[in-house]
Amino acid sequence: MTSVQQRPIGVFDSGVGGLTNVRALMERLPNENIVYFGDTARVPYGVKSRHTIETYTEQIVSFLLEHDVKALVIACNTIAAVAGQKVRQLAGGMPVLDVITAGSEAALSTTHNNHIGIIATSTTVNSNAYARAIHSQNPQARVLSQACPLLVPLVEEGWLDHEVTRLTVREYLKPLLAEDIDTLVLGCTHFPLLKPLLKEEAPHIALVDSAITTAEATAQALARMGLENPNHSGADYRFYVSDIPLRFQTIGERFLGRSLDQLEMVSLG
Ligand code: DGL
Repeated sequence: MTSVQQRPIGVFDSGVGGLTNVRALMERLPNENIVYFGDTARVPYGVKSRHTIETYTEQIVSFLLEHDVKALVIACNTIAAVAGQKVRQLAGGMPVLDVITAGSEAALSTTHNNHIGIIATSTTVNSNAYARAIHSQNPQARVLSQACPLLVPLVEEGWLDHEVTRLTVREYLKPLLAEDIDTLVLGCTHFPLLKPLLKEEAPHIALVDSAITTAEATAQALARMGLENPNHSGADYRFYVSDIPLRFQTIGERFLGRSLDQLEMVSLG
């Protein structure tokens, strides 16, 4: 029988992008087993309605609960923005960590002038979820959000240091830099891969990588609840997706930073 501590962490995303979170979790919590679900058949979520995202999210959460997970990590900013509450209801008392809560807290502890920029998908920006999370802790903070839908396909194309991506980033950052932000939250699974380019384009701005901050929040929650895996014999990683599109392996490995084994296709709904 597996003890609750030995059960996997369930991580999920609209597609391949959440592998940036898995990568951060593998580095921060090397003993933890992980089950990942990416809804590659229905990605992108970043332009879909709340209702549709909630329906898809319910299906994903019940899939992960069947895998006997001990905690859930919402790696997708868009899901966290519009369906975070729903996930918490479905999870019962199980710890649920999400990129928006962790990213907002990190932004508040990073900023000096309380001007925080957010770059994210259109749905995340429209939901105002980052601003709400930040204002619940500091109503004085100024939150400037910018939807950056073009950056998602550019990252998937692997154009991480390409002139087209550089010009696109420059254009998107203009209104944020004009408001004197000193901190920028990478509010989309794909954006951690753009960190080198963003640092060149905005050298004086502190970047908040939600994948890293969420991994840290997960580590703290597991420790607090006595849920850390005591097993040091090598973690098990399983990856489930709803489709294996062309070039999935290449793109996935770029996000994960290592080879993507134990990959299986399942259909939900
Ligand atoms: N995973 C999404 C996010 O972090 C980006 C891709 C999508 O639009 O589904 O918001």
